[in-house]
Amino acid sequence: DSKNEEFSLDYLQKAADYLRNQVPFTPKLLIICGTGLGGLSENLQNQIEFNYKDIPNFPVSNVKGHAGKLIFGTLSEAKIVCMKGRFHYFEGYSLQKIATPIRILKLLGVEGLIVTNAAGSVNEDYKVGDIMIIKDHVNFLAFGGQHPLRGPNEHFFGERFFPMNRAYDRELIRIAKEVAEKMGISDDYHEGVYGLYAGPNYETVAEVRILKMLGVDAAGMSTIPEVLVAKHCGMSVFGFSFITNRCIHCYDEPDEPNHDDVLKAVMEKSETVKKFVANLIQETKQR
Ligand code: 6GU
Repeated sequence: DSKNEEFSLDYLQKAADYLRNQVPFTPKLLIICGTGLGGLSENLQNQIEFNYKDIPNFPVSNVKGHAGKLIFGTLSEAKIVCMKGRFHYFEGYSLQKIATPIRILKLLGVEGLIVTNAAGSVNEDYKVGDIMIIKDHVNFLAFGGQHPLRGPNEHFFGERFFPMNRAYDRELIRIAKEVAEKMGISDDYHEGVYGLYAGPNYETVAEVRILKMLGVDAAGMSTIPEVLVAKHCGMSVFGFSFITNRCIHCYDEPDEPNHDDVLKAVMEKSETVKKFVANLIQETKQR
């Protein structure tokens, strides 16, 4: 079917060729900037920017206010590319489409992924403003048979069947915790399990209770499709959630999650998050 065409090597090579011809270096690391975390790209020096819509065969955002830019540059001497603006399943994209940038950037030479997102805390020990280093995830879409790699396998990128039990690089997690300790934020970070709830609504109370029972610490609407495709093609992956709000466990609570609070929470801590990422790259660049 035609969707697979748009995920094929030939189709994606066009986008990679276009970028290769204009960027004078090979990025080794991709940072996906989560909701409100576009500021992470401000860390980069000597920036070269592309609007998604100007890159042939790159997925385009059809949602107003979701411009979408690929920003190349250096950070702590590492060659980086940032995705400012990601694609969400609730917007109507196929899971394949959401993860297409991963394959394009793999073709360009990217070897590692730092993925970020805004999420609600299911774990009641977490506070708004905390960072949750992702140690594992629960892909609720996969339980229902939905997957970005459903369909013929493109062997060039990876094997048909692939493991996910060590998807989130254990060494990178260790270094990230060291970085957080050195920054003096030991009370403000955790290591936990991310669960994908497709949205666009936030969870019901009963759903939050189910997520808790199933071992989810933070719920969000993104990240897993990109991580699956990155692992399939052999990238190392590090991810974290920024906790923007609490998931509501109790019917008597008048509080409700809302998007303005999500954005506000990220704004308030954006300098800490930027520093965390810059320090992590500094500490891992010789690897
Ligand atoms: Cl409470 N739930 C989900 N699924 N995603 C979120 C969120 C909550 N808060 C920010 N993103």
